[in-house]
Amino acid sequence: MNTLLTTSVEEAVSVIRGGGVAAFPTETVYGLGANIFDEWAVGRIFEAKQRPADNPLIAHIADADQIDQLAAHIPSSAHALIDEFFPGPLTIVLKKTDSVPLIATAGLDTIGIRMPSLDLAHQLIKKCGTPIVAPSANLSGRPSPTTWQAVYEDLDGRIDCILQSDPTDIGLESTVVDCTGDGPPTLLRLGAVSIDELRAIVPEIRTHTIGESDARKSPGLRHRHYSPTAAVVLVDSRDPLPFTSNDAAYIGLHAPTAGPSRRLVCHTVAEYAHSLFEFFRECDRGGVTTIFCERVDESGMGAALMDRLRRAAKDE
Ligand code: TXA
Ligand code: MG
Repeated sequence: MNTLLTTSVEEAVSVIRGGGVAAFPTETVYGLGANIFDEWAVGRIFEAKQRPADNPLIAHIADADQIDQLAAHIPSSAHALIDEFFPGPLTIVLKKTDSVPLIATAGLDTIGIRMPSLDLAHQLIKKCGTPIVAPSANLSGRPSPTTWQAVYEDLDGRIDCILQSDPTDIGLESTVVDCTGDGPPTLLRLGAVSIDELRAIVPEIRTHTIGESDARKSPGLRHRHYSPTAAVVLVDSRDPLPFTSNDAAYIGLHAPTAGPSRRLVCHTVAEYAHSLFEFFRECDRGGVTTIFCERVDESGMGAALMDRLRRAAKDE
């Protein structure tokens, strides 16, 4: 299959409207989009990414009135979160309507919904005239793509189109909150919208169940994620790095006094988050075997960054 590379949003829209799959940027990471109501196209997303069929997709919308096509019920906590954080890097899980095909939700009776804030993503979804399902546009298990070139690296020849644009701003995937239960909403995935920001709107939000017990609720969490081929080792800023040869690398907020010459020293946690996945990919391209990653303080964006670092470091 020939993958069309284009900077024209209209071309990407016509691919999706014609039943194809097209990668496009959002403010978090690049997504691989298809019309949610086109089951054949949605199936091609799973095939292209080699994504396990039990991992549900997020529906991306351009306007709040599209929520009614997707969600059967919107509890008041969800209304409050939507009012505050849409458009932006927050996904809300709600009970789905019958019109949402089960292939999109991996057989669940719920659907994750997100309204990207990036203007190009908004234009694409708006012009498609339908909600767009979009997982991150990487091969399953690889780090999410933050550049169109990373999408190309994983999916050239497997998808119909890549809408080429700038590297993504945030660099980590959206925060996911489940609003379907009888009780208060539950945080399923950490992201750029922090726990404190969520609590300012819904103080009773539950966060303690993140981990194994949620694998059932958010099947994506149990799959291997965000991993470069290289081994990821977490270090503290004051740790002396073990003696390493040329095939090691370092990323963090402080420059280690010794250690690998391949290193990326970031000025802020936001810059670290923005750069992480592309750094992982660069290390893989360069044959790096060990990546030392500095731990950060788990406040704000730091919590999401530490979540991704821990998942990448976990040897599964
Ligand atoms: O920032 C993002 O969310 C990016 C961009 C492209 O929007 N998308 C993304 O999608 O990260 P994906 O498919 O790579 O991750 C979706 C996560 C998975 O962990 C999945 O299990 C969870 O959201 N999820 C989706 N629908 C769900 C549902 N109905 N119930 C529980 N978890 C759900
Ligand atoms: Mg993903």
